[in-house]
Amino acid sequence: MYCSSAATHDVGHRHVPVLRDEVMEYLRPAPGVQCVDCTLGLGGHSAALMARGATVLGIDRDPVARLLATRRLACFGDRFRLYERDPVTYADAAEDLVAQGEQVDGILADLGVSSMQLDNPRRGFSLRSPALADMRMGDGCQQTALEVIDACDEEQLADLIHRLGEERASRRVARALKRAREQGVDSAAELAAVVARAVPGRHPRHPAQRTFQALRMAINDELGQLVRLLKSLPALLHSGGRAVIIAFHSLEDRLVKRALRAYHKAGLMRLVSRSVVVATATEIATNRRSASAKLRWGVRA
Ligand SMILES: C[S@@+](CC[C@H](N)C(=O)[O-])C[C@H]1O[C@@H](n2cnc3c(N)ncnc32)[C@H](O)[C@@H]1O
Repeated sequence: MYCSSAATHDVGHRHVPVLRDEVMEYLRPAPGVQCVDCTLGLGGHSAALMARGATVLGIDRDPVARLLATRRLACFGDRFRLYERDPVTYADAAEDLVAQGEQVDGILADLGVSSMQLDNPRRGFSLRSPALADMRMGDGCQQTALEVIDACDEEQLADLIHRLGEERASRRVARALKRAREQGVDSAAELAAVVARAVPGRHPRHPAQRTFQALRMAINDELGQLVRLLKSLPALLHSGGRAVIIAFHSLEDRLVKRALRAYHKAGLMRLVSRSVVVATATEIATNRRSASAKLRWGVRA
């Protein structure tokens, strides 16, 4: 059953879930299968899981995503449940569920920022946003991107941009950002322009993309959240339960690969993906975001 209400269409049409068919293949949703969607977003993956009969507990730290996804998924009735504890991060939720002794058949994490968050100019994620560079995804995030830039000294900022953004010109970028802040520059678009001027050479993508990614990952503690989720994975899965994680950053993908391999070696996972699963050329042609998606999966022993 696919929901076809006007509300579903309204929020759903804007966002195509990445690697949807592959997620279904590895999670094997069916009636009676219980899944946790750690990154609900607009509910695209959850809708596909429930359309195949599964039940879903949805988690998202962004209150706007929770609201829109809940509306979109209302037609699935009590097969959809929203996780509503505070703060609603998937790391906290996973630890909380493990502490309560809960186990499920499927865990999905489609990491990073949603197109809905990126496209909202008021949230300051986008390189073209005239708003303050905020970049907080939602619950559990303390500092905005501006506050992080201000709190770091030049060297700390350069290290952060180098480590999380893999930006080679991180020192020049950090210097330029600190100077711009002294002059009161505070919008995302202006800061992106400052970074673009500091990064030498030609670039296939916007030259500030890597720096923005680093700031976003830092303020939302994206690697820390993933490490904690990976620790909870085996305890949260029933025997034969399946986990699927989609990463968009090489550091995230490395963490997932290492954790799954370690669990396989320790006998906690019966099967794990041998190589990374990526989007087909057809999907990439219709959904640019899928080009950098790296899916890995594992089956609990
Ligand atoms: C890429 S989107 C997911 C899209 C979703 N799979 C769909 O089909 O619509 C990632 C979502 O995860 C949420 N998110 C990211 N990190 C989170 C965390 N640590 N805890 C809870 N939600 C998180 C973001 O707020 C965002 O809405």
